[in-house]
Amino acid sequence: MIAPAVTSILIEPRTPEDSGFDLWRNFARNLLLSGTLPDLVDFHDAHDAPSPSLGLLPPNPPAPQIRPHSSKLPHVPKSFLDDAFFAAHHRSPHRWNLLYRLLWKLQRDKNLLHIEVDPWVSEFRSLSRQVRHDLHKMHAFVRFRKVQDRKGEHFIAWHKPAHRILALATPFFAERFAVMRWTILTPDNSVSWNPATRSATFGPGADRSQAPAEDELEHLWQTYYSSIFNPARLNPSVMRSHMPVKYWSTLPEIDLLPSLITRANSRVASMVFTQQATPSAQPFVPTNATLTMLQQALSACQGCSLFHYATQAVTGRGPSTAALMLVGEQPGDKEDLAGEPFVGPAGELLRRACRELDIAPDALYMTNAVKHFKFVQRGKLRIHKNPAQSEVNACRPWLEAEIQALKPKVILCMGATSAKALLGGTFALMRDHGHPVSTRYCDETIATVHPSAILRTGDKAKAQDLYGMMKADLAMAWSRSRRPHVMDVKSESRLSRSSP
Ligand code: URA
Ligand code: SF4
Repeated sequence: MIAPAVTSILIEPRTPEDSGFDLWRNFARNLLLSGTLPDLVDFHDAHDAPSPSLGLLPPNPPAPQIRPHSSKLPHVPKSFLDDAFFAAHHRSPHRWNLLYRLLWKLQRDKNLLHIEVDPWVSEFRSLSRQVRHDLHKMHAFVRFRKVQDRKGEHFIAWHKPAHRILALATPFFAERFAVMRWTILTPDNSVSWNPATRSATFGPGADRSQAPAEDELEHLWQTYYSSIFNPARLNPSVMRSHMPVKYWSTLPEIDLLPSLITRANSRVASMVFTQQATPSAQPFVPTNATLTMLQQALSACQGCSLFHYATQAVTGRGPSTAALMLVGEQPGDKEDLAGEPFVGPAGELLRRACRELDIAPDALYMTNAVKHFKFVQRGKLRIHKNPAQSEVNACRPWLEAEIQALKPKVILCMGATSAKALLGGTFALMRDHGHPVSTRYCDETIATVHPSAILRTGDKAKAQDLYGMMKADLAMAWSRSRRPHVMDVKSESRLSRSSP
């Protein structure tokens, strides 16, 4: 008897960022509908295959034109597609065949994916897990180096992921570093981000020598890692799993390890104690950092427990030349999802006031006293919850570092939380709003009512009064921020209290 012929299929991604998953899906759907047994098909990957020009494989075989045995669409559980999507980025040359085998078997056994001891299922899960793990590592370990080229600042990173995950990792960096021009080089492919068009362009792979080895940020990375280095983790096996040896050569903090290890024992005790006693962002805040560096570092903050629940830390936004800094309380629901301050209803009201005063909101630097959203979950809703004083205190080092980097002429605190953070606990908003105060943060620190408080006010006339108050204070803060020299600052003692 003649053995049936095996169909050989080449998965040949069309672009550098394409994993080939969609191609495989099309082939697999046709094969399944035509009843092709897994043993009668052999997928190859253009990445792994010998060059087609050598004639060992047909260059691009047409999708098998086998008449379907059944017109029923294949049964594909979502959890299969999710894991298959990640597994497709794995380097294993067998992944396409494995995926087709599973897909075939799934048509006959709908519970297959729950049978963890099935060797195919377990290999499938393992591929997906390894890719997700690699992605996580890439998000954590990519380090950009700054170079100046003819278009200005350019941040370039070299990274060697275990799998072909650059396209998967790109949205993370695009979101975090949307306003910077950056490029990530990997041996497989590369990606460049254009902040003007907010678009990523993929290109060919690159050699490590094409990336700059060091830059002026090196020192900052080292300080940063030295300050967030957690000696309690000084267990070599734990460290290896957090920071695989293959990444070590690209991490500047490695130079610091010997001295960190020496200092570790004494630091463990004091850190454990301090951690319990007072939550603080301090260990996560790089010293003498620019606003860009602070924005990058913020996402790693675990200075208090709020980072556990929020989607992301929300950094300040605005030009690094802004003379007026607005400090809100904390991000709300919309800000938490968007990653930008004042983009929800309170932000809308604030922007309306700006428009009415002829102030371009984009000329202001907007930030918050607390960088993570605090809320209670009620069904599908996330209801804003006031931050505790300990959380405001924990987060203050970020605000202080932002002020130090921006050096605004005037700070306008929006609402009692931020006023108390910068003006001290005895500050009374309704009594003291609109009075410029010289604090250690800024020669003119002013407070006003928070736009959310206006929105919460049920009484229309009262809301109007509060809106007028916010507008008047904003107008005053704006005009003072535009004066060439700050004079006539009322002294703190006028308000009979001291700034923190
Ligand atoms: N309220 C704030 O205090 N800050 C924001 O960013 C949004 C709402
Ligand atoms: Fe860090 Fe502030 Fe977030 Fe707390 S709220 S984790 S201190 S950024």
